[in-house]
Amino acid sequence: RGESSESRGALIVFEGLDRSGKTSQCSRLLSYLEGLGHSAELWRFPDRTTTVGQMVSAYLSNDLQLDDHTIHLLFSANRWEKRSMMEAKLRAGTTLLVDRYSYSGVAFSSAKGLDIGWCKAPEAGLLAPDLVLYLDIPPEKAVERGGYGGERYEKLEFQKKVAQCYKVLEDSSWKVIVCFILSFLAIELLTGFLLPTLDLCHLVAHHQESC
Ligand code: TMP
Repeated sequence: RGESSESRGALIVFEGLDRSGKTSQCSRLLSYLEGLGHSAELWRFPDRTTTVGQMVSAYLSNDLQLDDHTIHLLFSANRWEKRSMMEAKLRAGTTLLVDRYSYSGVAFSSAKGLDIGWCKAPEAGLLAPDLVLYLDIPPEKAVERGGYGGERYEKLEFQKKVAQCYKVLEDSSWKVIVCFILSFLAIELLTGFLLPTLDLCHLVAHHQESC
């Protein structure tokens, strides 16, 4: 607030099912933005390097069993512990490309049957994305892409439920990218969105009222 419009970085979130291509697209976009001379960084959630993140990671690899509500709150805590660093980066003019964020938290937990309002509650107050790029891939296609690595949620039936849950979370910050196009046109398509998007950099850090 009170900063010049050029000084603020954009918060760009990638969302989608497991194996939807988020990680590759994030890196491609990072190289592209850096090539244009923008200051940009790649982030991801869960951030498995923190103490909370290590618990999340152990849960995902089935080395730790936790109640569904408990793990939901840990995923959220993992975003909260990074909030002030994210805000500092954005204020300093760095654009953050974030591989998964609150939408993953709500979609994956509500796919287990948890109440969606309850799932959204701990996300309120985190930084709101300027743009969410949702990589839309049919769950069956995601499985075909090199298969799953064997983590807890990497099962077709569960991913189908997650896809349904993501659908109800779509809001005005979303651009849905149909993924069969991605394999051919990935970078052109994304940069087509991103060039105008970077004009949104005047958006100051604001608080998320809901997912
Ligand atoms: P990753 O494979 O992108 O590291 O994500 C790990 C898994 O965790 C993935 O199946 C999605 C899930 N997840 C949640 O259930 N809640 C969350 O808040 C996040 C960020 C990821």
